[in-house]
Amino acid sequence: MSESPALPTDGLRGDYTRMAADWTVAQDPATYDAEQQDIWRTLLRRQSGLAQQHGCPEFLAGLAQLDIDARIPDFARVSETLQRRTGWRVVGVPGLIPDDAFYSHLANRRFPVTVWIRRRDELDYLVEPDLFHDFFGHVPLLADPVFADYMQAYGQRGVEAGPANVHRLARLYWYTVEFGLIRSAGGLKVFGAGIISSATETQYAIGSSVPARIPFDARRVMRTAYEIDKLQRTYFVLDDFRQLFAATQVDFPSLYAALEQQPEIATGTVLPHERPIVATTLPQAA
Ligand SMILES: [Fe+2]
Repeated sequence: MSESPALPTDGLRGDYTRMAADWTVAQDPATYDAEQQDIWRTLLRRQSGLAQQHGCPEFLAGLAQLDIDARIPDFARVSETLQRRTGWRVVGVPGLIPDDAFYSHLANRRFPVTVWIRRRDELDYLVEPDLFHDFFGHVPLLADPVFADYMQAYGQRGVEAGPANVHRLARLYWYTVEFGLIRSAGGLKVFGAGIISSATETQYAIGSSVPARIPFDARRVMRTAYEIDKLQRTYFVLDDFRQLFAATQVDFPSLYAALEQQPEIATGTVLPHERPIVATTLPQAA
């Protein structure tokens, strides 16, 4: 998703000249060359290993169910499996798309995935999300029924939000879908795509003593600013995915009005009543 309602495509990396009115483009899996397939394989091997250790069980189940392998995925084939499980499909896009198009896709159970993959000199970091981030990071959890329902409901709230409130929803997405942590029987685990598609951030999010890990509270999240292009200074920790879905089932106009009366919270802040979660002392879930 973009950080602003209007999206100038000048300077973006993808080819926006041949897209449909809903910002989608066809993906032709045959067009990826040997170098691109090797970049996919390298990233997949590295991140799958870290995900086995630090990914939440729902992410790992999705990874297995979608049969993601050594070749760049065929979006149409994966969509057939996903559709049977949770009603979601994967659609190709040239890269970042405007908020209104993004929310509309989610509300209709379509997840936009960038069709191009990063270069070899960008294995560790790139500015715009690419196919590896979008697919490996986001698609496996769409096979989980509760998370799948959350994403659709989130998109619907986005369609309804209007420009004055869209930044609140962007924060909810950022701190959950991109950078969320969750408790599980095995301890603190990762589910956010921005973490799980990055080797550096996976290890930092779970193991570093620097960031504040705050128990998830949707109102708190929507008051909290975030920084792009940096390791996060705040993570929010879910008890389970039902908490996320429940956060979308409130009266949003009243919520937005209430939030306007409350001060913003800088990233990295721990409020006096909050008890940050330390990974090594995390109680085991029942
Ligand atoms: Fe993402």
